[in-house]
Amino acid sequence: MTASPYETVMGFIVGPWLAQAVRAAVDLSLAEHLAGGPRTAAEIAEAEGSDPAATARFLRACASMGLVTYAEKGFAGTEALAVLHRDAPMSLRDLAASQSSALLWHTWARIPEAVRTGESQTELALGMPFFDYLAAHPDEGQLFGRAMASMSAPVVRAAVEVIDVAGATTVVDVGGAHGSFALAMLARHPEFDAIVLDLPHAVPGARAAAAEHGLDDRLSAVAGDFFTAVPAGDLMLLKFILHDWGDDESVHILANCRAALRPGGRVVITEIVIDDHAPGIAPLMDIAMLATAGSRERTLAEFDDLLTRAGLRRIAATPVEPPYFVIEAIPAA
Ligand SMILES: C[S@@+](CC[C@H](N)C(=O)[O-])C[C@H]1O[C@@H](n2cnc3c(N)ncnc32)[C@H](O)[C@@H]1O
Repeated sequence: MTASPYETVMGFIVGPWLAQAVRAAVDLSLAEHLAGGPRTAAEIAEAEGSDPAATARFLRACASMGLVTYAEKGFAGTEALAVLHRDAPMSLRDLAASQSSALLWHTWARIPEAVRTGESQTELALGMPFFDYLAAHPDEGQLFGRAMASMSAPVVRAAVEVIDVAGATTVVDVGGAHGSFALAMLARHPEFDAIVLDLPHAVPGARAAAAEHGLDDRLSAVAGDFFTAVPAGDLMLLKFILHDWGDDESVHILANCRAALRPGGRVVITEIVIDDHAPGIAPLMDIAMLATAGSRERTLAEFDDLLTRAGLRRIAATPVEPPYFVIEAIPAA
């Protein structure tokens, strides 16, 4: 049965409650507590030090969302809850915690103002630009880095299969956060080495991730500014970077990547490619980027324009996980 217009809009209106309930489920480690079988609200409350009566009411709300079901004794986790488990193959735990944290929540509350002004609301919401805030709040910065890696997992898995790597040995993950893309490239191509370039606060996370994967001998993480310079390499990976920036800034980043390319190298952009009738998450992400950074998702023609301005030429645009594309470019001359 399809939802009525009233039910559809009501679903949108209570969206904030749902998002924060998912964050609370992560905060209480519900997926982890229920991984081994049903438990009572009292057991979970005792393990978490949470209020027993409130925990029981919260589990009832989770049942209405399909995160848990009633069991003979207490509550059982569902497949949906298992996606939030810290060890799930493409865990959404960190993304759920980050997207509904103060970092983004106060900005989302200003989406009406973003639409009226066409400008980023982050400075009004947080008192400083987004990446400055992350640098000033290391715990939130670490969480954001892990959330990016979690959101990236399906896109990265598909992207590493389609990138033309002929002649390449050194990958540079430009603004690579915890280096999830670089690490996937190293796993796929045992002859490669990689450099992750990011702001200083992200570097320890990249080093820890490399060590965790046993790839710290092939991956170096360096602190730097992609508006100043990019380390030399054969493949410049730019994933979820250009959508953070306006056109002039994006051209600046692309030009620095072009300047750092070794002969035969290419710039590889992984982003949403949007169009007027794009369904699903793409147009919503576009509005999220407007509110967070005053930036945007782009059409293929808009990417081509940026590439041309940076002295690059597109040679491939391959759809991977919808709505994401891998766009490959080489120097125009
Ligand atoms: C949206 S995240 C994308 C991270 C990663 N590429 C991914 O797809 O998961 C943008 C990244 O750009 C980094 N960044 C922002 N400004 C930067 C700058 N001026 N120089 C280098 N990195 C920067 C941020 O720290 C962050 O890790």
